Amino acid sequence: MKFTKSAPLWGEITVPGDKSISHRAVMLGSLAEGTTEVTNFLKGADCISTIRAFQAMGIDIEEKEDTLLIHGKGLHGLQAPKETLDMGNSGTTTRLLSGILAGQTFETTLTGDDSLKKRPMNRIITPLSQMGAQIESLPGNGCLPLRITGSSLKGIHYETPMKSAQVKSAVLLAGLYADGPTSVTESALTRNHTELMLRYFGAEITTEGTTSTIQPEPHLIGQKVEVPGDISSAAYFIAAALLVPDSQVLIRNVGVNHSRDGILRAVHAMGGDIRLRNRRKEHAEPVADILVKSGPLKAAVIGGDLIPALIDEIPVLAVLACFAEGTTVIKDAQELKVKESNRIDTVVSNLKAMGAHVEATDDGMIIEGGHPLHGALIHSHLDHRIAMSFAIAGLAAEGETEIKHAECVNISYPGFYEDLKSLQMEEE
Ligand code: S3P
Repeated sequence: MKFTKSAPLWGEITVPGDKSISHRAVMLGSLAEGTTEVTNFLKGADCISTIRAFQAMGIDIEEKEDTLLIHGKGLHGLQAPKETLDMGNSGTTTRLLSGILAGQTFETTLTGDDSLKKRPMNRIITPLSQMGAQIESLPGNGCLPLRITGSSLKGIHYETPMKSAQVKSAVLLAGLYADGPTSVTESALTRNHTELMLRYFGAEITTEGTTSTIQPEPHLIGQKVEVPGDISSAAYFIAAALLVPDSQVLIRNVGVNHSRDGILRAVHAMGGDIRLRNRRKEHAEPVADILVKSGPLKAAVIGGDLIPALIDEIPVLAVLACFAEGTTVIKDAQELKVKESNRIDTVVSNLKAMGAHVEATDDGMIIEGGHPLHGALIHSHLDHRIAMSFAIAGLAAEGETEIKHAECVNISYPGFYEDLKSLQMEEE
C-alpha cells in the first residue's frame, strides 16, 4: 500500500467498535445467563478469535443484522473444546481467557500465530498459579502453546508487577471461580473495562484507588452492550487531522474512558487543537465526539501514569512528535517491547528510514522534532498499529511511502484505508 502527501482531511467519521470492550462483551455474555445483545461489535480478526473460542466451548453466538447475539450459559456452562483453541494474533483473548479457563472443570490447549507465540505468558501463569491453577507452557519458555487444566481456585490479593490490564483482568476473571474474594492492586490505573463490564453484568466488584476486589460466584445476567468507537482507532485520524494542513475532522461516538484517554491528554500537552463534544454515557462507558483541527505542535514528555492510558497510541504519538517543535521524550514504556512487535524497535527503525531524528532508549524513545520526513519502505512487521501509524506518517512526508503487509490492519480495523481515503478532499 502506497501513500503520498495528502490533501486536507475534512468531514466526519465513525470508527469501529472498541477492541477491548468487544472482547469482554463476548466473554461476559458467554458466562452470563440469558442473551447479551452487542451492537457496534468490532469485527476485527482479534475479536473473531474470541468468538471462535467461545463457540468451540459450546456457546451459541449469532450475528443478526448489526447485532451480535450471545446466548450465555452461565458461569459453569462452558464445555470442553474438541480441539486446541487458536488465539490468532490476540494477546487479549489469550490472557483473559486463561483466567476463565483456570476455573473450569476441563482441560484446554491454547495456541496462536508466530507473533503471539513469542509473547510472554508467565505474567498470567504466575498469579493464576498462586490461585491454584494448573497452567503449563508446552515449550517450557513461558509462551504459547499453553495447557490449562481447570482446578478449584482460591482467592488471592495480587500486586501486578507490570502495568497491564490483561494481567489484572485474567486474575479478576479467575476470581469469578475462586473460594473467596480476589483483589488486584496495580501501580497505576490500566484500562478498567473488565471491572466496569463485570459490574454492569451483575458481579459484585469494588474499586478503591487502584485496587479492585471481586466476590466469587456472581449471578451474571445477559445485557445490552453498545460498544463505543475505539479511541485507539480514532487516534490515527486525530494524528492525521493534526498533521495535514487545513484539516478538520469530527470523530463521532468515541469511548473516552479516563483509563484510555491518554492520547487526548498528550495531544493537549502538545498544543494540538482537539475538543470533546456531546459527552455522554453509553451503558457502562463514557462516550464523546472528538473535533480535531490541524495546527502546530510542540514537544512533550510522555511517561509515568499516563503510559497505560495511551500504551497502544505510542507509535502514532511518535509520528506526531516528529512534526512537533522541540524534543519529545517517551519513557516508562518498556511494555512496548512485548506487544504485537517490539514497538520500540519497529517504531524507531521505521521512523529512521523516513529521516526522523530518533533514538531508542530502554523504556521508550527520544524524538527531535522539526526535521521533515521523507517517504520510505516501511516494514509493518505484521503489527496493525505500526501499519496504521506509518500510513499517517506517509500522508505528511515528502515523496512516497510504501507499507509492507499493510493488510494486517484487519486485526483491529478492517476498512481503515477506505475510511482514511473518505476524509481526503479531492485535489483541485
Ligand atoms: C488490552 C490491554 C493492553 C493493550 C491491548 C489490549 C486489553 O495490553 O495493549 O491492546 O484489552 O486489556 P496490556 O494490558 O498487556 O498492556
